[in-house]
Amino acid sequence: MSVDDDLQDTVARLVRAGKGILAADESLPTIAKRFAAVGIEATAENRRAYRSLLFTTPGADAFISGVILFEETLAQRAGDGTPLPEVLARAGIVPGIKVDQGKVPLAGAPGDEVTQGLDGLGARLRTYRGLGARFAKWREVYTIGPHNPTLLGIAVNAEVLARYAAACQAEGLVPIVEPEVLIDGDHPLERCEEVTLEVLHAVFDALHRHRVTLEHILLKPSMVLPGKASGPKAAPDVVAAATLRVLKRAVPAAVPGINFLSGGQGPEEATANLNAINLGFPTAPWALSFSYGRALQEPVLKTWEGKPENVVAAQRVFHRRARLNGLARQGAYQPRMEREA
Ligand code: 13P
Repeated sequence: MSVDDDLQDTVARLVRAGKGILAADESLPTIAKRFAAVGIEATAENRRAYRSLLFTTPGADAFISGVILFEETLAQRAGDGTPLPEVLARAGIVPGIKVDQGKVPLAGAPGDEVTQGLDGLGARLRTYRGLGARFAKWREVYTIGPHNPTLLGIAVNAEVLARYAAACQAEGLVPIVEPEVLIDGDHPLERCEEVTLEVLHAVFDALHRHRVTLEHILLKPSMVLPGKASGPKAAPDVVAAATLRVLKRAVPAAVPGINFLSGGQGPEEATANLNAINLGFPTAPWALSFSYGRALQEPVLKTWEGKPENVVAAQRVFHRRARLNGLARQGAYQPRMEREA
């Protein structure tokens, strides 16, 4: 298979109808924070047990097309000795890998940050591919403040995302391009809309300059939301209208899929908003789906609590959230389903 055919095959598998992506790529400090919130010790064995709980959930493959892994997980094994990426591949789920190495302050742009990890990226991508990864993820973040993000921050982050995406396609991995406008702050929804539009325009300009094939990427944006500290949440139809306005203006129709991050929304909120987005644009040129971390996992972690006797119950919770988001991805979710068995 040519590299292009290979990328096309991976994209087609990731955007299948009714399915989305599970982001289970929390770095060591982040998973430690998630574990601490429910009293689980952050050991390699607990991380392995937790991720195998997720990946061996019976029937989850009906709603999950891909899973983003953290580097450590690529080399870990399920209880029966099967490498975790192979557990996924056998279930028809595409294994992916987070390849950015975290963010640092961006010099010259106080309040903005930039993500590291471009040095040596090609060699790392070859290694990850050898371990079974077929797609990758890189996240840039944008904080909204009175003076942020700056023009410099927007330009630099776009450039880095484009260099990462070009490197991925050269190595046969589909890049998930993730510009996350953070929910933190007391700004109104309109300000988030304005920032997200600027960010996406810069990202697609950079992708074009770096000769990235848009047909072979997935975009992972944040939804357009009011700041977390701004007061009441916006209704799903308001979030959907603002989010779709931005996407229609900035995302070329060649992009096959838009898989939103949950970014601090509650699990039910993230599902309801995704559903409203699909209802708001049934003829969208892109698949409108999810690539959720917290919104899929929070209730699972709470149920599991690190105890083997809770694994089956926790898998049921994961299956349910995956199923409801699979419905939302088709505009077929209803809030009353949350209360049904
Ligand atoms: P959340 O859905 O928890 O925002 O995580 C998605 C993700 O992968 C962030 O990089």
